[in-house]
Amino acid sequence: MAEAERSVPRHVAIIMDGNGRWAKKRLLPRAMGHRAGLRRMISLIGHIFSRGVEYCTLFALSAENFARPAEEIEALFSLFREYFTQNVAELEAQGIRLIVIGDRSLLPADIQGAISHAEEATGRGARGTLALAIGYGARQDLVCACNKFVREGREATQETLAQSLSTGTMPEVDLLIRTGKEKRLSNFLLFEAAYAELIFSEKLFPDFTDRDFDGALAEYAKRERRFGKL
Ligand code: IPE
Ligand code: IPE
Ligand code: MG
Repeated sequence: MAEAERSVPRHVAIIMDGNGRWAKKRLLPRAMGHRAGLRRMISLIGHIFSRGVEYCTLFALSAENFARPAEEIEALFSLFREYFTQNVAELEAQGIRLIVIGDRSLLPADIQGAISHAEEATGRGARGTLALAIGYGARQDLVCACNKFVREGREATQETLAQSLSTGTMPEVDLLIRTGKEKRLSNFLLFEAAYAELIFSEKLFPDFTDRDFDGALAEYAKRERRFGKL
């Protein structure tokens, strides 16, 4: 089937925003919002791949988020630690290959090790690819790729630049969803989402249900993608 005719997006990207406000509404510490967000993410991943999506990129932590108070970053590190130790077997069982994109040097050494282990353990997964963006920034990723071309004395093309990004093994984004009311990209997949369909949800991420995701898929199926043509 031609790409433009597919009703199910091959590559879905989600900006999982609103954890802090979810906690605030309940008079809970922000860390509890992140915990609720992680729980929702784990169950949503299974649902997303059950719908025939092949690639899913989830924005978990931006490079810019490191400017938040140390206490919040530490809480997020604890959740990542938990995630990469407790959920790898399940991804492996589901045939989902996990990759992590972003600047890993921002993360503690033990988490870097857990990520490498998780990527290795799930590396043969053929049912789908899950990319978790942690310490990620699209501008940083583009600069890094450009510098590689400069070092190698090569000119980039659209294709070779795309392949040199941290998302290089994935096709471009078809559908980009942002939860949590804001309508901006916040430095996520600036190159890869050039022709993505955008859907903004009012739901805070911990409240974004499987049904809400199906609603976004239904909306996507109704969109006419023209890629500049008539
Ligand atoms: C998104 O939720 C997760 C991260 C950025 C780590 P936020 O923490 O940004 O939640 P809000 O936007 O403050 O509600
Ligand atoms: C974007 O959310 C990053 C993630 C969801 C990981 P932010 O909360 O950091 O975005 P801004 O600051 O509202 O643009
Ligand atoms: Mg936010």
